[in-house]
Amino acid sequence: MDRKSLIIGNWKMNLTHLEAIAVTQRLWYRLNPADFDRADVVIAPPFTCLRTLQTLILADRMPFALGAQHVHWEQDGAFTGEVSAGMLVKLDVGYVIVGHSERRAMFGEADELVRKRVRSVLSAGMTPVVCVGETVSQRESGETEMVVTTQLRGALRRLTAQQRADVVVAYEPVWAIGTGRHASADDAGEVCELLRNTVAAMGGPDAGEAVRILYGGSVNPGNIAGFMAKTHIDGALVGGASLDPDTFAAVIRYWM
Ligand code: PGA
Repeated sequence: MDRKSLIIGNWKMNLTHLEAIAVTQRLWYRLNPADFDRADVVIAPPFTCLRTLQTLILADRMPFALGAQHVHWEQDGAFTGEVSAGMLVKLDVGYVIVGHSERRAMFGEADELVRKRVRSVLSAGMTPVVCVGETVSQRESGETEMVVTTQLRGALRRLTAQQRADVVVAYEPVWAIGTGRHASADDAGEVCELLRNTVAAMGGPDAGEAVRILYGGSVNPGNIAGFMAKTHIDGALVGGASLDPDTFAAVIRYWM
């Protein structure tokens, strides 16, 4: 099966809505239609930029998709500081990152909460980007496989086969995020194959074939091609390198 490449820029807590306009315009100027034929390109800015970028993307007919970095699982209610899937859909958000290791480590995001967010994102018609990954000590004690499959199984519990095919999975080793130390393409490719097999075991072979699996963790213009050459890696979740339009464009155009 042909899985379209997917490159997601996760801006984390960076850039105001004014800066977001300039960065998005500059990125767009550096890309051409062939880039978007090859890859879906998603910008996942802070919540405060979503409305602004929705307007910019619509007005200038930019082929970017919008992503959100977080969501609450309830539709509405007394949840101070939270944002619901329904609110994101109204802003044309297509993808929502869930289970990022920064949220797991700093905001107590356990597998059960990841699962609830995945369900609410899917119910609203958006695509969850489920992040899994091991810490350095888990890797050193040989627990990588167990950790990532447990996280993925937890996130995909009680979904239909179609829903399991519709998620995006991002393998992000915690020790590689924001450190400049990336996984080798071989290691990342093996873990992504394991994740695909896990989706196939839960949702059937078609779901395993269809699901898009990304690598994330210090992706940059110099290492992206190695990851993309791996059969089971369909794209990248890019943090630091997505903040600069020249660098992010070079990541997206790695094949040039
Ligand atoms: P990084 O972040 O590219 O800065 O390592 C990746 C991520 O956290 O998604």
